[in-house]
Amino acid sequence: MAEQASAALPPMSGEHAAEPGRRDFLTLVTGAFAGIGAIALGWTFIDSMNPSADVLAAGAPIDLDVSKMDKGQQIVVLWRGKPILVVRRTAAALKSLQSPHVISLLSDPNSTVDQQPPYAENWHRSLLPEYAVLVGICTHLGCLPEYRPNPSATDPVPNWPGGYFCPCHGSKYDLAGRVWKDVPAPFNLPVPPYHFPNTGTLRIGENPTGQQFDLDSVVQM
Ligand code: FES
Repeated sequence: MAEQASAALPPMSGEHAAEPGRRDFLTLVTGAFAGIGAIALGWTFIDSMNPSADVLAAGAPIDLDVSKMDKGQQIVVLWRGKPILVVRRTAAALKSLQSPHVISLLSDPNSTVDQQPPYAENWHRSLLPEYAVLVGICTHLGCLPEYRPNPSATDPVPNWPGGYFCPCHGSKYDLAGRVWKDVPAPFNLPVPPYHFPNTGTLRIGENPTGQQFDLDSVVQM
């Protein structure tokens, strides 16, 4: 039985003054989310049901209504204490994922490293091309990559095609979480187990019928 996700988090910055190890930083992130009130964070509540802390800690599936997401919008929910990025991609974003130029920038464009379920080993790294579902933890040292979907001539780097930018040490990912070559992060962003039990409902933490995938099996979180 899936629980309804109670809140979406605002866009997050990955800036941190020191550079703690991966384990320390993940603990810090989890603690920060737990310790700061929803109002202070400006969370957008999307459902009145609030899963209990023990349910969330146990990693029970959570349901998210994605039917009203705008094209290009990202929302962030916590699952198993991890920020899960959910994006409703635009047609331009999907075109970008298939662009020879963008593909030439990537380290693992075909998702050959086990960082995703088998059902996300495709050019869009997802079940449905329109929806990206990613674990928002940089595979370098665990910072939180910033969502920078719009192409730019200058920002955050010259000739930016849109994607995720990690401000900690400059790692870059495309809009499917595929990491660029020659950046500190070694792997694509993980993809959690998920499926759509009905149109417009995203269930995070549960595989499609007949599929088996455990997030703990990825090469690197
Ligand atoms: S944590 Fe170092 S680039 Fe993301």
